Amino acid sequence: EFLLRDMVLTKEQLRKELPERRAFSHKGTYGHALILAGSKEMTGAPVLSASAGLRTGCGLLTLAVPESAFPIVASKINEPVFWEWPAEEGRFACGSHTLLRQRIASFDVVAIGPGLSTWKGGNNWLREIINMVDVPLILDADALNLLSENLSILHEKKGQIVLTPHPGEMGRLCGCSAVEIERDRVGYARSFAQDYEVYVVLKGTYTLIATPNGKVFINTTGTAALAKGGTGDVLTGMLAGMLAQKVAQDETIEAGIQLAVYLHGIAGRICSEKSIHATLAGDIIDNIGPAIKSLL
Ligand code: APR
Ligand code: MG
Repeated sequence: EFLLRDMVLTKEQLRKELPERRAFSHKGTYGHALILAGSKEMTGAPVLSASAGLRTGCGLLTLAVPESAFPIVASKINEPVFWEWPAEEGRFACGSHTLLRQRIASFDVVAIGPGLSTWKGGNNWLREIINMVDVPLILDADALNLLSENLSILHEKKGQIVLTPHPGEMGRLCGCSAVEIERDRVGYARSFAQDYEVYVVLKGTYTLIATPNGKVFINTTGTAALAKGGTGDVLTGMLAGMLAQKVAQDETIEAGIQLAVYLHGIAGRICSEKSIHATLAGDIIDNIGPAIKSLL
């Protein structure tokens, strides 16, 4: 039906999509990303995602964390703007609806999930945000786990949605096991993307990107150096940082997703030259710059 050759992401094709950095520009030119992440016991994930987003090139990044995690997170990173979110038991609580709506409307992309934790009523909290956001919305990690409780909230979306599950999270979304997902990665990713009209980034050794209109792309740049806690949080940040820059001039976010996934793998490859065992998620972030440079 389609050729493997046409599905594999290539350097030649992606280098043309890389956002330009023009002399006559300023931070506003490159977009403002919002990341909602963290909880009392997960204060590293928001830092990894936010650093990765900024390294990928967005002009501004706001990091929203529950107030219980805020002092720790804010002491670890200087570059984001912080949004101290009201907390309940150490995780995100529902804020004032109108205030929230006003503030959320000012971003070019929103990402939710890293270190979020899950809680009773969390699916409703997510539903409110899905209803508010009309720019690209990335859902990762615990945002996907909250989503699996009731998938129908996806039908209330106002903008484009990107899901970034690993096989375990994809299994929860599809109501089957990770093993089952691994048996037919293309099939599961493609039907979910079409059924819910979302982009699915199914992570793994060869990460797949399935689009709402039934296309599937394969990334081959990954490495086992990425098999360590926190590298998924880095990918989420990279997706936010890339999509904030509105990579393609048309409405599609396809090229931005492809670039982020491809560059994440290249950054891993660069780290693996030093050590495939010792690579940390933070090392991936440090090599986003060299990865971008290798595309130029
Ligand atoms: N080859 C290529 N790529 C790999 C490999 C490999 N062998 N192993 C892992 N990766 C890549 C994946 O494709 C993905 O991009 O590393 C990343 C791992 O992402 P996650 O599985 O989301 O890992 P993590 O960052 O630790 O997630 C943090 O959120 O998703 C939850 O349960 C997860 O608690 C964990 C947290
Ligand atoms: Mg993850």
